[in-house]
Amino acid sequence: MAGGTNPPEPGAERADFVAPDAAVDTEAVDWVLRTTRSVRRRIDWDRPVDPALIESAIDSAVQAPTGVGGERWRFLVLTDPAPKAAVAGLYRKSLAAWRAARPDGADGPKATVVTHAERLGEMPALILVCSEGEPDPASRALQVAFFGSVLPAAWSLMLALRARGLGATWTTLHLLQEQEAARALGIPDGVTQTVLLPVGHTLGARLRPAVRRPAREVTYWNRWGALRDPTRADSRTPPRGPRPDGAD
Ligand SMILES: Cc1cc2nc3c(=O)[nH]c(=O)nc-3n(C[C@H](O)[C@H](O)[C@H](O)COP(=O)(O)O)c2cc1C
Repeated sequence: MAGGTNPPEPGAERADFVAPDAAVDTEAVDWVLRTTRSVRRRIDWDRPVDPALIESAIDSAVQAPTGVGGERWRFLVLTDPAPKAAVAGLYRKSLAAWRAARPDGADGPKATVVTHAERLGEMPALILVCSEGEPDPASRALQVAFFGSVLPAAWSLMLALRARGLGATWTTLHLLQEQEAARALGIPDGVTQTVLLPVGHTLGARLRPAVRRPAREVTYWNRWGALRDPTRADSRTPPRGPRPDGAD
């Protein structure tokens, strides 16, 4: 934290801490934003994750925006072998169903996705990000508000984990078995599961920016489709496709 001012402990008087203007290390923050990638293999499998480290990451994550009736996020952290194995089994079942539903000849999952699924129960921690309540099936606006009140915290959590030397992967496959997962984990009716983050300390992970189209190509100004400088569109767009050297 620049300026020598530390943030307060969670729960401390909020008025005590006012971030000074421009007190952010932009380079460090951007580096985390640009290099938070899936880490599926390069995990220190034998090193447990300190629960206090996870809680500290969650304390940062819950600074995310939250809508009306907010803070309905709940984080279910699995570290015991039995619940991890239960969710890992459901995840693999989902992966098998997903593969079976693919048309003949369609690309299958990446090899790292398959090995990740096989070793999911060995991950030091699985964090299931949930929200109390359910999205309104009839209203897109309310669905956006519902998921928009929990997923920013989930992504902040990935960033906060990365900033603590922990790797994770944004996964949703187990949701194909959401009811079974709820039963296995004691999640009551009326609670919606969102992403599952398998987490561990990274070991030799090569985290680097992904190839993405630049802002100037995906940003419109004042009217849909209007680029700020059309002459520069896609002039330097890097080739799309798989990364030459996966980080995970
Ligand atoms: C909505 C969503 C759901 C995803 N679900 C899974 C999943 O269940 N399992 C998985 O291995 N990757 C899943 N992914 C892909 C990874 O999270 C990741 O984005 C992808 O592998 C690209 O790698 P990178 O984040 O390192 O660039 C999902 C991504 C998104 C955006």
